[in-house]
Amino acid sequence: METEQNRKSDCAEEMPDHVRLRETEGYGKLMMEYQCALDEVQTKMEVLNKELSMRTNRNPFESIKSRIKTPESICGKMHRKGMPCTLESIEKSLTDIAGIRVICSFIDDIYMLVECLEKQDDLEVVEVKDYIQTPKPSGYRSLHVIVRVPIFLSDGKHYRIVEVQFRTIAMDFWASLEHKLRYKQDIAVEDAQTIADDLRFNAELINQVDRRMQQIREHIDSGANGPNGQKSQAPVKRPAAPQGSTS
Ligand code: GTP
Ligand code: MG
Repeated sequence: METEQNRKSDCAEEMPDHVRLRETEGYGKLMMEYQCALDEVQTKMEVLNKELSMRTNRNPFESIKSRIKTPESICGKMHRKGMPCTLESIEKSLTDIAGIRVICSFIDDIYMLVECLEKQDDLEVVEVKDYIQTPKPSGYRSLHVIVRVPIFLSDGKHYRIVEVQFRTIAMDFWASLEHKLRYKQDIAVEDAQTIADDLRFNAELINQVDRRMQQIREHIDSGANGPNGQKSQAPVKRPAAPQGSTS
């Protein structure tokens, strides 16, 4: 005879992992802690933006977005890693449950912001993954910084991990479109390599534009900051025209 207990355990077995995770005791508190850590880091970035924009007369970043990973996405990633979708396991193995994306205008602003973050003694920079210096094979460029942030709750101090992705507007443009294209299901196998090569080629073009825009800014800055305010006469170096260009 079917008992209440059996029915409950059958239900639990059928329950998708992400639903079970969401209902696990302690999940809400854990996510609240990640949200607090996210808020801490976002506030730190906004403070830096205010202060540096007063000093340099321009905003070091254009926009900032943050998100907590959904239970579906957490469990999807744990499955790909072949790990169980339990609280202990996600806490130990995922560094991007709390994620912030900072979009800068220029490449050197990214390094300046990371340097400022590294100097703050109330958080610890655990890892820096520089995909600007060394892009991913796909062509992806960004700088990822993993930080460990203390949060002060009624039961004491807790540490949570936050992933901060720094990108230029140009890198974000490429990554957003590449992400959309990658998730198209109907790409023929024989086209996949050509498309991947094309995307990598375009990532290189975009990188050239990024570097050129920075040179133009440096040229303008050197004029504005030159002695007696006179403009610098140094010419801006033009990169070679990309293949396939008509001019
Ligand atoms: P994950 O297991 O996804 O965290 O990969 P990882 O740890 O090997 O790489 P990393 O943490 O450095 O980068 C992961 C994140 O970077 C992803 O969630 C994306 O936001 C972004 N990313 C990495 N590679 C690519 C890429 O080729 N294209 C795009 N559009 N985004 C990427
Ligand atoms: Mg990662």
